[in-house]
Amino acid sequence: MSIDFAALPSPCYIVDERLLTRNLEILDSVQQRTGCKILLALKGFSMHSVFPLVGKYLYGITSSSLHEARLGYEKMGKEVHAYAPAYVDHEFDELMSYCDHIVFNSFNQWNRYKDRVKNSGKSIECAIRINPEYSEGKTPIYDPCYKHSRLGVTLDSFRPEDLDGIDGLHFHTLCQQNSDTLKRTVQVVEEKFGEHLKKLKWLNMGGGHHITRADYDLDTLVETINYLKDKYDIQVYLEPGEAVALNTGFMVATVLDIVDNGMDIAILDTSAACHMPDVLEMPYRPDVIGAGEPGEFAHTYRFGGLTCLAGDVIGDYSFKEPLKIGDRVVFCDMAIYSMVKTNMFNGVNLPAIATYNEEDGIKVIRQFGFEDYSGRLS
Ligand SMILES: Cc1ncc(COP(=O)(O)O)c(C=O)c1O
Repeated sequence: MSIDFAALPSPCYIVDERLLTRNLEILDSVQQRTGCKILLALKGFSMHSVFPLVGKYLYGITSSSLHEARLGYEKMGKEVHAYAPAYVDHEFDELMSYCDHIVFNSFNQWNRYKDRVKNSGKSIECAIRINPEYSEGKTPIYDPCYKHSRLGVTLDSFRPEDLDGIDGLHFHTLCQQNSDTLKRTVQVVEEKFGEHLKKLKWLNMGGGHHITRADYDLDTLVETINYLKDKYDIQVYLEPGEAVALNTGFMVATVLDIVDNGMDIAILDTSAACHMPDVLEMPYRPDVIGAGEPGEFAHTYRFGGLTCLAGDVIGDYSFKEPLKIGDRVVFCDMAIYSMVKTNMFNGVNLPAIATYNEEDGIKVIRQFGFEDYSGRLS
């Protein structure tokens, strides 16, 4: 059955639970073949109405803030991990109340908080994030290893004498990458930090593993994890965000007007700035169902958003038939990052959130309104 996009409110994100389940099965196959534990990174996908489904396959979540940790604790109820470049003093006790693992970005942070962890009355495992100073990413804002990066401890700043009480190491250096990049990264991590791994319980290899992409090499991932497990006798964790919900979500929007300024420009009831900020930040051009590259089909349009930002432009697309006011357009791969990064700039409303599965069909879970807009300001 295909989803009847016309039956949704507009704009609306919709996640197809059949596609999500397929991704989760692929991730679980890695867990089965290696004994590694995979966590959902909430920064990439926080749609908590599907956390019960995600929790059937994955071990828990990783969070980057108090609110994410609480969301994972309350809505999934499995392992909760945390990493942030620095923790906020007055939030730390509450953060600990949700967490099973806490990763520190520096030995300063570890030394500042280690007694509070020890006296928390809970068994919380701690780690240091390392910066192996090796990455293959091309986009600087997504590269944690650029020169003078604040993320993770470099070999020069590593303090083996402060490892007492530390259970693991963590690195996150990948972004939408395949397992060949991971394999090369692991070689560098081993050269620089291998002697410490031998004494630790676990290694968390962060996110950025595009495991559920069609051309992802699962065998190299499995070999790499099993190699680490055998050589160092450690538990391996992965914490992908994107790979969990990659290509499982769509956003439906509606054409509000078509104007001409040297080309046809369709103004939609959505916005790059508000509803898909990575289109501007990364930048990238999301796929649209039934549309081609500009000029590929007879009728080309620039898609623009409904904010006043001049650069609120989503991209250029061509169609076989001319578009009309009121037509629906469907953007692909909108579950990850887009949904968590929305904002209400210009007072633009947030897209509704819906799910689809065979049993229940379309379920509109949440619609937003003025209260959501005024509630975040005062
Ligand atoms: C520490 C950490 N873990 C996990 C992730 C998730 O990465 P991705 O969504 O690319 O898999 C990120 C993303 O920035 C991260 O910074």
